[in-house]
Amino acid sequence: MSPIVEIDNISKCFGSTRVLEGVSFTVRKGSVVAIIGQSGSGKSTALRCIDRLETVDSGHIKVCGHDVTGPGLDLHQLRRDVGIVFQSYNLFPHLTVLQNIMLAPRLVQKARKPQARDTAMAVLNQVGLADKADHYPSQLSGGQQQRVAIARSLAMSPQLMLFDEVTSALDPQLTGEVLRVMERLAADGMTMILVTHEMAFARKVADEVIFMHRGRVWEHGPASILDAPATTELRDFVGNGL
Ligand SMILES: Nc1ncnc2c1ncn2[C@@H]1O[C@H](COP(=O)(O)OP(=O)(O)OP(=O)(O)O)[C@@H](O)[C@H]1O
Ligand SMILES: [Mg+2]
Repeated sequence: MSPIVEIDNISKCFGSTRVLEGVSFTVRKGSVVAIIGQSGSGKSTALRCIDRLETVDSGHIKVCGHDVTGPGLDLHQLRRDVGIVFQSYNLFPHLTVLQNIMLAPRLVQKARKPQARDTAMAVLNQVGLADKADHYPSQLSGGQQQRVAIARSLAMSPQLMLFDEVTSALDPQLTGEVLRVMERLAADGMTMILVTHEMAFARKVADEVIFMHRGRVWEHGPASILDAPATTELRDFVGNGL
C-alpha cells in the first residue's frame, strides 16, 4: 500500500541541542506504527514535525499528499487531515462533551448544526461515550475525558491519527479503556502513529515499531524486534520497560 507519511532524513536542533538527526521512515496507509524510546530521545518532536507543530532544520516530510516541509503548505488542510491527541486532554471546561466535539466541525468545516451533532454522536458512539454527551468534562474520569479528546479528533474525519503518550496520566484501568478505543480504531483501518510506553500494547497492535535513541531511528521493524533486539540500547530499554 502507498505511504501516507514519508519522512526523509530530517534533522532538528533546539539551540545547540541536536534533537533529531537524520530520521527517516514511512508509514503505509492503514498501518499502526509505535514509536518508543527513552525520555528525551526525540519521539514527541518527531511526531510534532509531522503535524508541523515543529519545523525541521533539514530533510523532507510528506503527509497525506501535503509537502509539509515545502513552501506553500496549506496548514489548515494538513490539520484537517491529521488528528493529534496528547497526554493532556485540553477540553473546554465550559462546554459539554457534545459541544466540545461539535466545535471544530462547526468552525473549521462550517458544518451545519444538525450535521455536526450527528457526526459528534457517531464519534461518541465509537469511543463508547454516547451517554455522556451532555456532561461537562469535570464530570468525567480522566480516561473518559481522553476518549472525548479522541472523539473530537475523529469528528474531523482525519486520514491519520497521531497519539503522544495519551495514557501516561491515567491509572491502569483507565489506560485500558483508552487503549481499547485505540485498538478498535486500528482494527477499523485508521492509520496511526503512536508514541507509547505501553510495550504490551505496542506488541499487540503495532505493525511496526520504531525505537528512537538520541534523536535517531536506532531500530525499526515489526513488533517482534521487541523480543529480539538487535542493539544493546533496545535490549536495555525493553528490559527496563518490563
Ligand atoms: N521547545 C523546546 N525547546 C527546547 N528544547 C526542547 C523543546 N522541546 C523538546 N526539547 C528537547 O528536545 C529533546 C527531545 O525532546 P522530546 O520531547 O522530543 O523527547 P521525548 O522522546 O518525547 O521524551 P519524553 O519521553 O520525555 O516525552 C529533549 O532533550 C528536550 O529537552
Ligand atoms: Mg514526549
